[in-house]
Amino acid sequence: EKGTYDHFMLKEIDEQPFVIRKIIQEYQDEQDNIKVDGNIRAAMLDADRIYIIAAGTSYNAGLVGKQVIENIAGTPVEVHIASEFSYNMPLLSKKPLFIFISQSGETADSRAVLVKTKSLGHPSITVTNVPGSTLSREADYTLHLYAGPEIAVASTKAYTAQIAVLTILAVDTATEKGIKLNFDPLQELGIVASVMESLTDQKERFAKLAKEFFTGMRNAFFIGRSTDYFVVQEASLKLKEISYIQAEGFAGGELKHGTIALIEDGTPVIAISTQENVNYSIRGNVQEVSARGANTCVVSMEGLEQESDNIVLPRVHPLLTPLVSVVPMQLLAYYAALHRDCDVDKPRNLAKSVTVE
Ligand code: F6R
Repeated sequence: EKGTYDHFMLKEIDEQPFVIRKIIQEYQDEQDNIKVDGNIRAAMLDADRIYIIAAGTSYNAGLVGKQVIENIAGTPVEVHIASEFSYNMPLLSKKPLFIFISQSGETADSRAVLVKTKSLGHPSITVTNVPGSTLSREADYTLHLYAGPEIAVASTKAYTAQIAVLTILAVDTATEKGIKLNFDPLQELGIVASVMESLTDQKERFAKLAKEFFTGMRNAFFIGRSTDYFVVQEASLKLKEISYIQAEGFAGGELKHGTIALIEDGTPVIAISTQENVNYSIRGNVQEVSARGANTCVVSMEGLEQESDNIVLPRVHPLLTPLVSVVPMQLLAYYAALHRDCDVDKPRNLAKSVTVE
């Protein structure tokens, strides 16, 4: 059921605008208000701190989710790598709520944390694409991603669906708390869907950029600050897992603390700049690496762009920029892998769901 697509990954990248629209529809009532299950609503209101537990791409979505929930709903959030949680268990608040993010709902590392937190009597929600999965059955409540089956090993539409669903959850909690928002979240998500579409319509451009920046390269760096730092971590994971190019995502400010030593003539450095308050600083980083020979690719947003930028994203709400800035990153990774004749949908050494700890 790949249809006309060569790979599931490309099909799933293309499905993202439809998934966002589906999520808007599924989490809306007849009066166009956000509707979330009453038990989940109550659990969110009761919590004094949220602990997000996840692995891989779902962890990267959790980083964005933390920012969204804290900004919109005002509840403190911590994000933990599932496999590290038991060794470095944080001191828990009085009323913790655990949110497990898992596309498959089968990740053993996350399940191990759920078993532990359940035995301690703490409430839990699983955000998953597979209702009926282990994590969904064993948690108290489930939030469905409605992304449709994700077949490619590299996760794409689940990442954006996870961020969208966490945004809806945050807005619902804010409304219940009586917090007034200065934007219409469902309308903003609708804009996101259209912008995603405008990006997936430009595949040849991203194929060309992938060729230009990654051909023959052994490593690549992604840099960003603030919200963009979360997205560069996902960007580097996408590139490394399917193209086998060694890639890392760094906070722009950390470059001078070590990483800049790795920059050589021709090293690809992809910078994302979608946030007004860090635009100036990240562009400083671009100049620093460029002066040391890096081949720089800048992805910015309307209103912050400079003439030399390689990709200028249409404007979306500042909290929701990861939903659109990740799309070029997914496409760059896809075409980099394709140009290197890699098995895009089934990269070596990886499994779609990791059911061992
Ligand atoms: C990366 C990828 C993995 C998964 C991770 C968690 O593209 O697919 O990093 O995100 O194994 O899987 P789930 O979300 O099923 O718990």
